[in-house]
Amino acid sequence: MKNTYYHQLLENNKNWVKKKIESNPTYFEELSKGQKPPVLWIGCADSRVPANQITGTLPGEIFVHRNIANMVVHTDMNMLSVLDYAVNHLKVKHVIVCGHYGCGGVQAAMQNKSLGLINKWVRNIKEVYKENQTELNKITSEEKRFDRLVELNVMAQVYDLAKTSIIQQSWVDNSGLEIHGWVYGLENGIIKDLKVSMDSTAHLDAIFTLNLEKST
Ligand code: CO
Repeated sequence: MKNTYYHQLLENNKNWVKKKIESNPTYFEELSKGQKPPVLWIGCADSRVPANQITGTLPGEIFVHRNIANMVVHTDMNMLSVLDYAVNHLKVKHVIVCGHYGCGGVQAAMQNKSLGLINKWVRNIKEVYKENQTELNKITSEEKRFDRLVELNVMAQVYDLAKTSIIQQSWVDNSGLEIHGWVYGLENGIIKDLKVSMDSTAHLDAIFTLNLEKST
């Protein structure tokens, strides 16, 4: 078989293992004992937004869930399983929703073009647009409107996290858990903190507040 990009990936892996062991002979032995990441990352699947690299963190530090447009969909068993495991078993201290400017998923939601299955996935972003259309429609530059929708979408996902029983139970139990919303800039590599962080003192709309007992 001829040498392809695919084979190169396996070669890269061998080299990476070699380098890791050279700098720390017990690196893999230590990491294989278990994980205690302080952070759950809910990010976009976009290949240009790798959680560890852009935050200067190492394997073992961030538990990661990624999907198109960093969505928190309350019926998504995949996201909910990750959230439950991260909050209740790994006991992460921070859940970060990280979107990014230039997000193709958000752009798809801004269009009227029919894109098949992706229409269903980005439907919730259209709802975010509708909820904020007064603000968004005032922005004449399409690029700036796109940027703002990326931010508003992250904010909505943070709020949707707060609506989950998993996050609310954690707050009732005084875990100290915080949830945050960030946006990454593809053009400059800088992360913008949207300052929408919430903790157990957060006030949700009454209709979303669940009556939960402190767990024993
Ligand atoms: Co994206």
